[in-house]
Amino acid sequence: MKEVKDFYDSWNPNNFPKYMKCIINFADKLIFEELKKLIKTIVNNENKDNKDFLVLDCGCGYGAFYNLTKDFNTIYLDISLNLLKKFKIKERKVCGNILNLPFKDNTFDLVLCINVLEHVDYLKSLNEIHRVLKNNGHLIVVVVNRDSLIKEEIFNDFKIFHKPLSYKDFEETNINFKIVYLSSLYYLPPIFKIFPPVFLKIILKYWKPLDKRLSKIFKNRGQFLVLNMVKE
Ligand SMILES: C[S@@+](CC[C@H](N)C(=O)[O-])C[C@H]1O[C@@H](n2cnc3c(N)ncnc32)[C@H](O)[C@@H]1O
Repeated sequence: MKEVKDFYDSWNPNNFPKYMKCIINFADKLIFEELKKLIKTIVNNENKDNKDFLVLDCGCGYGAFYNLTKDFNTIYLDISLNLLKKFKIKERKVCGNILNLPFKDNTFDLVLCINVLEHVDYLKSLNEIHRVLKNNGHLIVVVVNRDSLIKEEIFNDFKIFHKPLSYKDFEETNINFKIVYLSSLYYLPPIFKIFPPVFLKIILKYWKPLDKRLSKIFKNRGQFLVLNMVKE
């Protein structure tokens, strides 16, 4: 199994098989819509100009979720220099480690951490994020869900170290975060992978509203867990 950094240094979605691109695209859209809603609520409650709202996209990769944060004053951090080079923006990119963030205490209003904590020591990472957040600052986490109904671990295809987390892992830490929002999404059965990409695309189009319904019925049992936590 490859080291996490080596794995992501050579991560190139353009080389993935078509079925995988369709599925990643589908999951990213679900995540995007969920986080857009969450961020809007957070920002509306802050009463601040977008440009005064300081955001850290921690483990930003090549910027798949850039459109979520482009209107704010956002710093993009990742451990992989290669991925940062692929990220289309020129400024505000930092090569660094979530376990030792190169920022002062109490800096950010919001930290996003999308599909990163499953690859690292999540408690150390949460401590670091807590340190760099302002008091009452928000952390939004998306992570592979250990309590998922579908026991297909998303990263199994990639042979990379990952440890799915459960809601309890966040609830039971002694780090001063209050969980203010919890949901999950992505109820796609692995069997869909066998369909040829043309059909897969059509199936996924119709699966999207169903996924939203399943998220309401089977609360917190989707393959991705979404949390919004506030620094106390
Ligand atoms: C699954 S990708 C997610 C990328 C992006 N957040 C997204 O959702 O498209 C995981 C990312 O975490 C980054 N990463 C892994 N370990 C890290 C660490 N210790 N510090 C910072 N970033 C890390 C990887 O380089 C990779 O870009």
